[in-house]
Amino acid sequence: VSPLRLGIAGLGTVGIGVVKIVQRHADLLSVRSGRPVVITAVSARDRTKNRDADLSGYAWESDPVALAQRDDIDVFVELMGGHEGAAKDAMEAALNSGKDVVTANKALLAHHGQQLAESAEALGRVIRFEAAVAGGIPVIKALTEGLSGNAIRRVMGVMNGTCNYILTRMESAGLPYETVFEEARALGYLEADPTLDVGGIDAGHKLAILAAIAFGTKVSFDAVQLEGIGKISIDDIRRADDMGYKIKLLGVAQITGRGLEQRMMPCLVPSSSPFGQLQGGTNMVLLEGDSVGQIVLRGAGAGEGPTASAVMGDVVDLARGLRMPTFGQPAATLADPVPAVASAP
Ligand code: NDP
Ligand code: HSE
Repeated sequence: VSPLRLGIAGLGTVGIGVVKIVQRHADLLSVRSGRPVVITAVSARDRTKNRDADLSGYAWESDPVALAQRDDIDVFVELMGGHEGAAKDAMEAALNSGKDVVTANKALLAHHGQQLAESAEALGRVIRFEAAVAGGIPVIKALTEGLSGNAIRRVMGVMNGTCNYILTRMESAGLPYETVFEEARALGYLEADPTLDVGGIDAGHKLAILAAIAFGTKVSFDAVQLEGIGKISIDDIRRADDMGYKIKLLGVAQITGRGLEQRMMPCLVPSSSPFGQLQGGTNMVLLEGDSVGQIVLRGAGAGEGPTASAVMGDVVDLARGLRMPTFGQPAATLADPVPAVASAP
């Protein structure tokens, strides 16, 4: 049986996590995939950097586009990040040279997902991105597979581990923002540009992707009403607690009389509620379907192991030959995005 050959672009928190799983679970992956899963080549910016894995058996490419075009890979695994430049160029190169793509890059999908999905489908290729939303929680698979018999009514969730970590640690440990921010960095939660996290933008990207899948619309990040956690002080957190509430960066996408509303902003939630009790880098997503009712998925939303776990779920799907359209239905059938609902004055 021919192996599934991976080319991994990006050897940071997530990329090294993927390398470790492929090395640690070679037998398990082979049995579950029906064929071996191997890494052929890797790419990052700095070849001399000390990384927490043995990369000696893999070819090295300094240019991720060159990696994407290699004849000895079947799947291009994009784990660099960024919604323009190298990640987009390399993903397009991979599709154009007949490779399927696995990515964790929500920023790229939120901004260019429609165009990439159309390209992939025209070329007969597949893009998978379970790791892009809610880290280790298989929420994309839940929506596109398990719940595909439902009309989705609502998607709601805490989807940024950094913000939840900061908000809960500031309160529970009484630590200042700067200290918990550095803890989040050490845990591998942060984006390369952490303003994406604390500004609510990263969570907004994730909500836009989930809304597209749930409601069959083109991804529309511009339609997400956004507010980050930058203005939340320790006093705000304590006052909310005194009244029996926690402050969470909560996203909601639902169809209302005004169309598809997408909001990602700090909200008060009852302390005793499941959202109120969510600690640290944990994410939680509630999905509501017309037949199933409400289901809740909860787990690690960021970090090396959880995110690499989601990437490998996609890799195994591809090794098994599962070839679902990017957003769960053909890109050409997605409806035009609904404009943002005006913010309250
Ligand atoms: P890191 O910053 O830890 O790693 C990024 C890697 O990409 C580095 O190895 C870097 O090289 C490489 N890289 C960046 N730009 C280029 C380039 N132009 N050419 C070649 N290599 C490049 O990021 P993460 O691992 O944290 O995140 C990767 C992706 O996964 C992002 O899209 C992120 O949003 C997403 N993600 C991250 C999660 C997390 O918990 N960290 C969770 C879910 C998704 P070098 O090491 O040489 O600098
Ligand atoms: N920076 C992101 C977070 C990583 O903190 O949730 C996971 O997408």
